Amino acid sequence: MSIVYDEAQKTITLHTKNTTYQMQVDRYGFLLHLYYGKTAEGCMDFLLTYYDRGFSGNPYEAGTDKTYSMDSLPQEFPSLGNGDYRTPACIIKNADRTYCSDFRYKSHTIKSGKYALKGLPAVYASDDEAQTLEVLLEDHVTGVKAVLLYGVLPEYDIITRSVKIINSGNGRISVKKLAPACLDMLGGDYDFITFYGRHAMERNCQRLPIGHGVSKIGSTRGSSSHQYNPAVIMAEHETTEDAGGCYAMAFVYSGGFQSEAGKDQYYQTRLLMGFPEEQFAYPLDAGEEFQSPEVIMSYSSDGLAKLSQNLHRCMRTHLCRGKYKEVVRPILLNSWEASYFDFTGESLLKLASEAAELGMEMFVLDDGWFGKRDSELRGLGDWKVNEEKLGCTLGELIEKINAMGMKFGIWIEPEMVNEDSDLYRGHPDWAFVIPGRRPNRSRYQLVLDFSRKEVVDYIYEQICAVLDQGNVEYIKWDMNRSISDVYSATADSQGRVLHDYVLGLYDFLERLVNRYPNILIEGCSGGGGRFDAGMLYYTPQIWCSDNTDPIDRLEIHYGTSFIYPASCVGSHVSASPNHQTARCTTLKTRAVAAMPGTFGYELNLNELSEEEKQEIRQQIKEYKKYAALIQRGLYYRLTNPQTDNQGAWEFVSEDQKEALVQVVGIKKHANMTVDYIKVKGLKENTMYRDTESGRVYNSTALREVGVPKPVLNGEYKAYQWHFVQED
Ligand code: GLA
Repeated sequence: MSIVYDEAQKTITLHTKNTTYQMQVDRYGFLLHLYYGKTAEGCMDFLLTYYDRGFSGNPYEAGTDKTYSMDSLPQEFPSLGNGDYRTPACIIKNADRTYCSDFRYKSHTIKSGKYALKGLPAVYASDDEAQTLEVLLEDHVTGVKAVLLYGVLPEYDIITRSVKIINSGNGRISVKKLAPACLDMLGGDYDFITFYGRHAMERNCQRLPIGHGVSKIGSTRGSSSHQYNPAVIMAEHETTEDAGGCYAMAFVYSGGFQSEAGKDQYYQTRLLMGFPEEQFAYPLDAGEEFQSPEVIMSYSSDGLAKLSQNLHRCMRTHLCRGKYKEVVRPILLNSWEASYFDFTGESLLKLASEAAELGMEMFVLDDGWFGKRDSELRGLGDWKVNEEKLGCTLGELIEKINAMGMKFGIWIEPEMVNEDSDLYRGHPDWAFVIPGRRPNRSRYQLVLDFSRKEVVDYIYEQICAVLDQGNVEYIKWDMNRSISDVYSATADSQGRVLHDYVLGLYDFLERLVNRYPNILIEGCSGGGGRFDAGMLYYTPQIWCSDNTDPIDRLEIHYGTSFIYPASCVGSHVSASPNHQTARCTTLKTRAVAAMPGTFGYELNLNELSEEEKQEIRQQIKEYKKYAALIQRGLYYRLTNPQTDNQGAWEFVSEDQKEALVQVVGIKKHANMTVDYIKVKGLKENTMYRDTESGRVYNSTALREVGVPKPVLNGEYKAYQWHFVQED
């Protein structure tokens, strides 16, 4: 049993293979958090301490006991107003206009299987793989209930958390703040690891000590954003890739978010993950309920690599869905950087036939095929194929591409509208515009109000009508601006609109994956602006960044790898000089840098020399050789490209018989010193052969000293070793 209730101690303990999580219902009915860490048996309430602490008040029931204070005790679901002055997980405006919630334990149930969340993405598991704990808390004055949900996947060292607020009172309430995951740590010193960035430079890793006061990251953009990713790690100061304790929280949600970490006055640390407080105020009438998205949590006592591997495994096998989740994805050619808006049907076919000839498996027609979309200025919202531009119907184009032995994929951006479009002229109130204000434009486009069902339904029908015109096997779902000017003409409260928007988005995606189970969907938002665990439930791969520069990608992939599996990282070989940075790199470097992900090309193949084409044919064969290992192998970060001379990473098969080490040099000097790349995850003191050179290596020496990176002249050289255990 992974969830155990001890009646005598009033503890509920969640066990995974290597971790234990424990909570306790205390003498006053508060649900206290006792422990989350390495596997531990017994009751951990000895960790709680009771002292008279000035200005930390006491619940009324404590009578003359000044040593009991909610301000210092670790809590599972802290709320505002009942004596805990730290940052709360929940703020509710009650029907009587007060802001106090006092949640006490009422009951709990333990079930086999993992809970599902209606209308929301969530980790799934079979009944024998997971258990669910539901704890019912109630504020007996307002009648408001909080149902805490815990999903436990023992084999994966994963615990998920979600919360449902039920208004069992009489009047209307408003949920003002909600963080489904809270971790209160009694001792220890921790770092807050977050992933910040900007368009075309996403998920840079930042590690800072958690001090007094609250460090907060988040997004108020209506999407998870390029600026901060909705996943964080809390690690002990000493924790490295290979040793030490660390916790992860990944929000399974694609709207805004906030995560807060801070030390309180007693040097205890609280970590929260949930909705952003700005613009959030979800109304609930009597009898209504609100279900939060979930947070995936994991703990590793063996450092950050293991923590990442836990998350990767869970997301790859229990969050991603559909035909493609475990399948090596087709190698694609995307038309964007090849021709942007400037193409004809003929030029597309020329590109596709070149791609087919080189061994690529799918042709993706990016932006520019619909309405009057010849530039960023117009056309979004008019999902009618521009047959004049294509010189044929979409069906005919697809047939010709299929006849070349290639699959066909297409780009869409359903959530957006240009003012210069028939859709906007017909339905100006469907876009987010506040009456009396001129809206903020971004890339000349406005956002459609997906909180309204009729808007979602209309666009859904338009998109389906396109997809039904031929054998479409892939969609790139884009979202190229952040949301502002939030106003929905039909909403009873504007504080609900951004969440209802995300529910509308998920409803659309759910219908799409059900209607077209054979279509592979790749998520995108100006590259990696909506790279989150929520999207992975619908789109098993996400375009990682609009930046295709292989050297910048080393950092982007590094940051991404802490949370997300390589199987979901969209990455392509593009032109040199690179279109975003003008940096020149070799074709080999571009390919090695693009391999830790779903592989493809995005450049004008017609401009390549015969020699380059031959090299691409080889790269495709090579990627296919390693693709299964890349998709399913255990991922190790071997260097930190933000600070080291090179980016280096490794995939190791679960049986440890095979590994792929890939390295791209960054810094180059005359008379260069040799860098040794320490290889991880292999069997102890075992011989491995590099299949590329035939040379045999000892695994312990590879780990302790490393493989010497050759010193070659020229910048940004790439290297790889494919180690296979000797018989
Ligand atoms: C976004 C995407 C690009 C491309 C363009 C098309 O920026 O990230 O890959 O699809 O839109 O407009």
